[in-house]
Amino acid sequence: MAFDKKKVVYQIYPKSYKDTTGNGVGDLRGIIEKLPYLEELGVDVIWLNPFYPSPQRDNGYDISDYTAINSLFGTMADFEELVAVAKSHGIDLMLDMVLNHCSIEHEWFQKALAGDKFYQDFFILRDEPTDWLSKFGGNAWAPFGDTGKYFLHLYDKTQADLNWRNPHVREELFKVVNFWRNKGVNSFRFDVINVIGKDEVLEDCPVDDGKPAYTDKPITHDYLKMLNAATFGQDQISMTVGEMSSTTIENCIGYSNPDNHELSMVFNFHHLKVDYDNGQKWTRKAFDFEELKNLFHTWGEEMSLGNGWNALFWNNHDQPRALNRFVDIENFRNEGATMLAASIHLSRGTPYIYMGEEIGMIDPDYDSMADYVDVESINAYDELLAAGKSPEESFAIIQAKSRDNSRTPMQWDDSLNAGFSTGTPWLKAGKSYQEINVANEKEGPIFTFYQKLIALRKETPIVAEGSYKVAYKDSDKVYAFERELNGQKLLVLNNFFGQEVELELLAGYEAGQVLISNYDAPELAKKIRLMPYQTLAILVD
Ligand code: NOJ
Repeated sequence: MAFDKKKVVYQIYPKSYKDTTGNGVGDLRGIIEKLPYLEELGVDVIWLNPFYPSPQRDNGYDISDYTAINSLFGTMADFEELVAVAKSHGIDLMLDMVLNHCSIEHEWFQKALAGDKFYQDFFILRDEPTDWLSKFGGNAWAPFGDTGKYFLHLYDKTQADLNWRNPHVREELFKVVNFWRNKGVNSFRFDVINVIGKDEVLEDCPVDDGKPAYTDKPITHDYLKMLNAATFGQDQISMTVGEMSSTTIENCIGYSNPDNHELSMVFNFHHLKVDYDNGQKWTRKAFDFEELKNLFHTWGEEMSLGNGWNALFWNNHDQPRALNRFVDIENFRNEGATMLAASIHLSRGTPYIYMGEEIGMIDPDYDSMADYVDVESINAYDELLAAGKSPEESFAIIQAKSRDNSRTPMQWDDSLNAGFSTGTPWLKAGKSYQEINVANEKEGPIFTFYQKLIALRKETPIVAEGSYKVAYKDSDKVYAFERELNGQKLLVLNNFFGQEVELELLAGYEAGQVLISNYDAPELAKKIRLMPYQTLAILVD
């Protein structure tokens, strides 16, 4: 079981990529249509968010049938065609496996509710709820029908946590993964996989909404080894990534060190909390560069020393667009987008691009709460009002933090609905679509820079495989690191601000060669000047 470190992953939110039927929802045939575009970009794997039957209460993360296609998105024949056509473009599919919970409309839950004891043990039922909070607001327990018992839901009250302690549950879930392997899929993303391990006796945990009581429990590593052995670990080549909620480096090394036979790599989210006030998401604060830089350094270096492997990303379907968070987009959208890209594509780990990032998409800038669809945002707005915030301030927070920011339709051109759909889109297109769209941007500085970065990882072993070492640790403007492989060294400098910065180059690099920059390559000398949001990578043999 090995995975290829030269590969780059592109994430598609199927609901918002391309609608070919006019029903306002993106579909599998829309993805097939766009495969030549993705091949041109150069990506190797596409991660698709869930497209299985689901009441869509959490946009498909509430699955009611794990081995079928939601008719909103197409048919199984469409899916099979997608796998085959993607392969002909040199692209593999990565499927989203939501194995911590299922929808309460799933037949397992329905049978449990109807009194079937076998299926009741598929869920986490208790007479007394604990004090844990749901990640989507409120208590994490809901009444289990009229039995007087409660079932655990760490997410929405329609997403019931599955009982991984029960071997029958594990067996059923492993069958799900194998079903998709049999369709020719060898890459998987495992949703919130570090919360699957729950203790037999559950206790109150007043710390951090109860998270320590169920996050990164040692038994999770055992479950992952079982999952690996029973499914993708049997493939010669597979790529797997675990989404790790509120995790630690130590655990992530455990999850991704190849000797442990768990997963290929891990997502963690610490770097995307550096604009949270007091650790709270539903607040507004400028990002803390010092915190960001230190987090990247600690994770980069320790994962490198422990032989773990990070999935590297700025954007996904749960995050507002990184450009709005980290860049002065009024003045430096191109420079900022390319610098952010280089800061992860040249680092140690596997880079993920979220649809639209390659053309510099930004948040939609909606005018009213009525434009939002996401359950988490709607709950959060109500909670902000209830906590005494004004409607204006509450709305401003939703505008900055909502997950819908990244879920808006892909901006293909300047026609109606950004060329996404001829019907009414399930979520409105962003206001910027007439300027920021594929038709305008494909020859532009952002898209072409992504193409170069993706190609560099394939051509340059140090980019794909080199170790990670902290550089310019004390800089208050520049996030920099060194990579090393077989005596070669690569220095990557990223100016995170809209002002020029002067630097003294580390010894040896003035005689090096510029591998890539988002400005004209400067003359290398002892002292160099980085332009606003400049990225500069220098190679020495
Ligand atoms: C993480 C997913 O990325 C998110 O979209 C979802 O709401 C939760 N897991 C629950 O499945």
